Amino acid sequence: DWSAANIAEEQIRLIREQVGDGKVICGLSGGVDSSVAALLVHQAVGDQLTCVYVDHGLMRKNETEQVERTFGEHFQVPLVVVDAKDRFLARLKGVTEPEAKRKAIGGEFIRIFEEEALKLAVGAGAEGVEGADVKTFGEVSAAGGDTGAKFLVQGTLYSDVIESGGGTGAATIKSHHNVGGLPEDMTFELVEPLRALFKDEVRAVGTEIGLPERMVWRQPFPGPGLGIRIVGGEVTEEKLDLLRECDAILQEEVRAAGLYRELWQSFCVLPDVRTVGVQGDERTYGYVVAIRAVTSDDAMTADWARLPYDLLDQIATRMVGEVRQINRVVLDITSKPPGTIEWE
Ligand code: XMP
Repeated sequence: DWSAANIAEEQIRLIREQVGDGKVICGLSGGVDSSVAALLVHQAVGDQLTCVYVDHGLMRKNETEQVERTFGEHFQVPLVVVDAKDRFLARLKGVTEPEAKRKAIGGEFIRIFEEEALKLAVGAGAEGVEGADVKTFGEVSAAGGDTGAKFLVQGTLYSDVIESGGGTGAATIKSHHNVGGLPEDMTFELVEPLRALFKDEVRAVGTEIGLPERMVWRQPFPGPGLGIRIVGGEVTEEKLDLLRECDAILQEEVRAAGLYRELWQSFCVLPDVRTVGVQGDERTYGYVVAIRAVTSDDAMTADWARLPYDLLDQIATRMVGEVRQINRVVLDITSKPPGTIEWE
């Protein structure tokens, strides 16, 4: 019968069985899913686990520092932080189509995990492949060499699997970065202890195994990050900065209003649209930012949140006042279906 304790115990047993004495890499984002997955694996196989946090430059304001700090305070697991901002931006150059963008980001994540895995190999690198200048994870793996870690832990949920078309043969709604967004030539063996669970169940398991409360109750943040919240145009440093500032204002106000936990998610989207405004006596031509806030139980359906008008007013006033280049704020009042929660 279902209890968080039973699930945790069962998954820990299954992880031990799957991994044996092999080395394991876990892609950690700081969110509840990857944190719970990492903790389960750590409880199962201890220091066979290395966690890797990839800063793809698509994170929110101060997020990398916060994740590093929280992780250091609560986990006894080695954490490798990879600064990959330039790589991801380069990879995203000229990419605007949503699925192409998701695959670009998902693919780059895996390449980085492969590089970090190789560093864990005995003698670091193409051990066992004499004479050849074999370097990539795929090549070392194909040659039967030591790839360091062979297992990759991901916090994939049941809802991610369904929407990526991996559930019941249903259509792909969008390729979640850790399911449909994976490159075809990936040779990691996946460890996905949450694959049968919905978010509320993951939170219960997290609480059970000692994840701190403020991590358990973090709103979801997608792996591709702000990359899928800059829509209709190229992802650039400039737009990322704008979006980060708006998002920080939104989060601050939502928390101050005491609504953070009630909302499944609250965030901003930056379309590639500029409109005319007036500030003082001056004409402005700036970006539009959209507020997206929803309530939901499992992300399979969602309702747009009826945020108080005064709160919306405060948020909009701050955004146009504090973020140069933003001169208009709109509210997304679409539920799921027919909308999805993220815009792409
Ligand atoms: P949608 O936009 O499909 O999103 O209604 C459902 C939930 O999933 C999150 N989401 C993702 N999470 N990787 C993730 O880890 C992804 O690629 C991804 N895409 C969407 C989204 O934020 C929402 O909570």
